[in-house]
Amino acid sequence: MGPAALKTLTQNCRGWLRAECPKLIYQVEKRQAGIRDRIAWCLVTFLLQGVNVQFLPATENHYGAIGNLVDSPEELYLVCPTGHYPWDEEQLQAIATQRQELTVGQIDSTIVAFSNLYDVVPQQSAFIGNVVVAKAHRGKGLGKCLIQHMAQVCQTKYQAWPHLSVFNNNTRALLLYTELGFRPYGVESKLDLNQDRVALIHMKYGANRLG
Ligand SMILES: CC(C)(COP(=O)(O)OP(=O)(O)OC[C@H]1O[C@@H](n2cnc3c(N)ncnc32)[C@H](O)[C@@H]1OP(=O)(O)O)[C@@H](O)C(=O)NCCC(=O)NCCS
Repeated sequence: MGPAALKTLTQNCRGWLRAECPKLIYQVEKRQAGIRDRIAWCLVTFLLQGVNVQFLPATENHYGAIGNLVDSPEELYLVCPTGHYPWDEEQLQAIATQRQELTVGQIDSTIVAFSNLYDVVPQQSAFIGNVVVAKAHRGKGLGKCLIQHMAQVCQTKYQAWPHLSVFNNNTRALLLYTELGFRPYGVESKLDLNQDRVALIHMKYGANRLG
């Protein structure tokens, strides 16, 4: 089985798990699970490893670990175009004074993701920014969980419509946001680190499927 087929299988399994998990947990706890369900339970614990993430408010103690999530100037440009590599604590301190809802994703005690909100206009709109997932944890659904979490904060805390911006050459992020229901509404011309022209695509949440 190739990596693509394995990924599809994993995604299908996750959908099934979301529906079946409560029943399975009950059966395993009550020792009512048959062999088929016990095997399924092993699969549950294996597949859920990658998405066992907690989202917490970022504090100054996290700034070093947040900076380490970005490992090159090119990547920093995608995450924070005005930043300079390495992404140090001083820059994160400044971000903390300008932005809201600085949030880290944590697995066990390791910081694996970061994001925040900016240009928050309650009852109207808010931008999700500085989105990054640790390299070793990418492709496991963490980015999806992070964006869903930040979009929920926009909606529940500020009653604000979630927006975000992404460069045209950032295929991974572009596909992620599209899959979650964000749609382009504007394009801005920018220069990248090599002074080549790139398009910054502004997107807003456009369909009711954040669940
Ligand atoms: C963009 C980023 C946050 C995504 O995080 P992630 O944890 O890898 O994303 P997920 O595992 O949740 O993947 C969600 C979707 O992203 C897309 N995706 C993931 N890996 C991909 C890859 N290798 N190629 C293309 N698209 C990919 C897919 O649409 C995927 O959905 P699927 O799993 O249903 O196919 C992460 O790659 C990252 O930190 N990149 C560097 C910084 C960055 O670009 N930040 C965004 C700035 S706007």
